Amino acid sequence: MQPFHTIIEPFRIKSVEALNFTTRDERIAALRRADHNVFKLRGDDVLIDLLTDSGTGAMSAAQWGALVQGDETYAGSRSFYRFEKAVRDLTGFTHVIPTHQGRAAERILFHTILSRGEIVPNNNHFDTTRANVEVEGAEARDLVVAEGRQPSLVHPFKGNIDVDALETLLAKDGDRVPVVMVTVTNNSGGGQPVSMTNLRAVRRLCTKYETPFFLDACRFAENAWFIKQREEGYAQKTPLEVAREMFRLADGCTMSAKKDGLANIGGFLAMNSDAWAERCRTLLILTEGFPTYGGLAGYDLEAIARGLEEVVEEPYLMYRIRSTEYLAEKISGAGVPIIQPPGGHAVYIDARAMLPHVPPLQYPGVALVNALYVEAGVRGVEIGTVMFGLQPDGVERPADMDLVRLAIPRRVYTQSHIDYVAEAVIHVSRMKERLRGLRVTSPPAVLRHFTASFDPLT
Ligand code: F0G
Repeated sequence: MQPFHTIIEPFRIKSVEALNFTTRDERIAALRRADHNVFKLRGDDVLIDLLTDSGTGAMSAAQWGALVQGDETYAGSRSFYRFEKAVRDLTGFTHVIPTHQGRAAERILFHTILSRGEIVPNNNHFDTTRANVEVEGAEARDLVVAEGRQPSLVHPFKGNIDVDALETLLAKDGDRVPVVMVTVTNNSGGGQPVSMTNLRAVRRLCTKYETPFFLDACRFAENAWFIKQREEGYAQKTPLEVAREMFRLADGCTMSAKKDGLANIGGFLAMNSDAWAERCRTLLILTEGFPTYGGLAGYDLEAIARGLEEVVEEPYLMYRIRSTEYLAEKISGAGVPIIQPPGGHAVYIDARAMLPHVPPLQYPGVALVNALYVEAGVRGVEIGTVMFGLQPDGVERPADMDLVRLAIPRRVYTQSHIDYVAEAVIHVSRMKERLRGLRVTSPPAVLRHFTASFDPLT
């Protein structure tokens, strides 16, 4: 028996950043100025910012130190080779192409390989991934397992792709599927992990149908941790060993280093295909930069190289996943409906279940996000009908789920911040009958959740 049970933050704090406190009236005014869309708030008007875990993490002293080592040579920078080695050691892929963030990797890959009328299957496409598929005139098809669409159902790997549905698609329309993607962890489906068994099954199908298999690897380390905890045969492996095994099942990946790269900016596209890599690099030069920097400074490449090493450290991952679970336990213990089990990087509140009196087309997720901001200065994000409800043909229909994501920046907030967030959520849930829906007042747009204006309904 161990005498201590508290999982402490595996770091101490060397540099701090003050929080900005506002009154409820100030927040009401700020939200009105932001057209009731929290994406349009000024960061200074937010107390605890759980909008995203992307690029919002704290870098380590070692990463800041690495920054000074950045080599800003235009072509052939030493920092690139260090970055390339870190990515290769982790993924095993031959070609490593730096990009300024994840969606740049997506755009370059999809613009290079996709044609109109083709289909890209995925467990769930993230919003930018979907948009980058659709802008090429192709279809982004979500094939997550049925368990992944039921918020309250507990299942260890709700991010798995439905292998039967994937096989049916490949057997019938395989000639229209240039790549199969799997997102680890499955962000749009609640930050849920994908099992190694599932990745292996995808590998088998992709080999059988001769279709390349790419990972959207933004949160690969969190996924590896879940495999280690939940899947038979992995308990004794290190997170790095698990992650390496995941990557070696695939033919390539897109990656946002703003998540499990522990960096504030950056990403990459990596793959084994020489032919695709050559074409991707050509487009990279056109829109991102020379292939040894790809839109990043040399110092960014250094920060990512170091971040990729730190993110698979066991004390970090234990703390990381536990702090998300801690928030989830507190609010679900108070009766707030959330996606169960909690994901790696975020807690997802089931706004549709919490606010049954607000129909999906009146955006229960946005109603809840706005109330959390007004009452407590906490900023979350809707992942629901505003984000996914508008179809390419202009018709709007309810998304599968209406969620509010509270994403936890890496190494930024302490346990007392999280305690405060839990109090805020519980406070708002006690006044839920008073929350009202909204209507969109701006014209339809691509990725409308970023820019839409809303009017609250009375
Ligand atoms: N894929 C997934 C699964 C993501 O979660 C994101 C970003 C991207 C791709 C795109 O990466 O932002 O570097 O261009 N997700 C952020 C979020 C924005 O808040 O979940 P990016």
